[in-house]
Amino acid sequence: MNSNGVDYVLFSEEQLKERVRELGKQISEDYKGEEPIIAIGILKGSVIFLADLIREINIHTELEFMVVSSYGNGSQTSGNIKILKDLDIDIGGHNVLIIEDIIDSGVTLSNLKKSLLARNPKSLKICTLLNKPDRRKAEVKVDYSGFDIPDEFVVGYGLDYANLYRNLPYIGVLKREVYE
Ligand code: IMP
Ligand code: MG
Repeated sequence: MNSNGVDYVLFSEEQLKERVRELGKQISEDYKGEEPIIAIGILKGSVIFLADLIREINIHTELEFMVVSSYGNGSQTSGNIKILKDLDIDIGGHNVLIIEDIIDSGVTLSNLKKSLLARNPKSLKICTLLNKPDRRKAEVKVDYSGFDIPDEFVVGYGLDYANLYRNLPYIGVLKREVYE
């Protein structure tokens, strides 16, 4: 792992582990009797969180993935999304939980949610590790959130800058000089 460019650690491995455990417990309780749920990981940023989270969920959970276009190499949102890899299953009548790494402007998830709701799932909720409420441009209901964070660009634990830093075991704030 290469931590060059990281300013400081925002959430340590231990803090992440504890919060992920709490989220898993809460999700397991909320969906009891509603099994199985379909967890949809949004690639690539959510994979580390997702891998840890589903192992803290003690009800039947199916695993699916989608790829939606996001920031490219910059740190600014492009304004709308494209589905680059769709589901290969029908979610109609199922309980669906979208797993995301971070909600920033909310544009990605508000659009994705609309598109998935049109497929008539029994329920559709959103679970994100990180949430930047101050940056919201599109309204989106966040059902499960690990941590609210200030307006800083963060990397690690799956989150990237220009596809790097995903393998840091913690969440760190990127130095501004890296992306400005
Ligand atoms: P939104 O559409 O602006 O909510 O964008 C969400 C997506 O932007 C996330 O899935 C991330 O891929 C990316 N993103 C937003 N903020 C950050 C950040 O601080 N670090 C890394 N990726 C980010
Ligand atoms: Mg992402």
